[in-house]
Amino acid sequence: MTLLAPSILSADFSRLGEEIHAVEQAGVDLLHVDVMDGHFVPNLTIGPPVVRSIRKVTRLRLDVHLMIDNADQFIEAFADAGADMISVHVEACPHLHRTVTSIKSKGLKAGVVLNPATTLSSLDEILSEADYVLLMSVNPGWGGQTFIPQVWDKIAGLRRLIALRGLPALIEVDGGVTQENAAPLAAAGADILVAGNSIFGGGDSRTAASEMLAALKSAG
Ligand code: DX5
Ligand code: ZN
Repeated sequence: MTLLAPSILSADFSRLGEEIHAVEQAGVDLLHVDVMDGHFVPNLTIGPPVVRSIRKVTRLRLDVHLMIDNADQFIEAFADAGADMISVHVEACPHLHRTVTSIKSKGLKAGVVLNPATTLSSLDEILSEADYVLLMSVNPGWGGQTFIPQVWDKIAGLRRLIALRGLPALIEVDGGVTQENAAPLAAAGADILVAGNSIFGGGDSRTAASEMLAALKSAG
């Protein structure tokens, strides 16, 4: 079944522990942590100390999405802080094989991320090494943006590519995931869905997460 990874980017950071417990109680599988550097993407968020604090209050697997330049410099710090999975952008990593190898050498799952305008062909030489591929379905930088429709075909294309090569890589989709498109995205081949605004953007996060999990369950 498709896993749900709420993104804390849209959470109330003054109540982060409570927000995390709310989605944990709903039964989500992962917690998505968006790290931005104000350079690779035009926004700033959090770093390893916050991941370390989160690690202390939850047993959820921490899915850390690095939207930063010089990712190599920070892999160790995020691994030590308690990340279980780290994904890095093809567009930001000139030595991508080295970066992916370094994540895996720490015993973590390694993900490779493509921005909406980056083609699947950029995965050719790295797909066999990736534990998962994260397809961005918005341009990274903010929560609460609208899903870019071209990504539907990209998910199907990546699904075919992975099957053709007989690889184990999972597909994660991030950006603009809602209660309405979650089940169709699962049916299209997403193994992990990230959802920020639709979980933490207002109202009760636990109910929002429960409803999305129910939608995914019904998608099979
Ligand atoms: C976008 C981030 C996403 C973001 C998703 O730059 O990588 O993880 O939090 O937020 P929503 O679900 O609100 O589009
Ligand atoms: Zn993300």
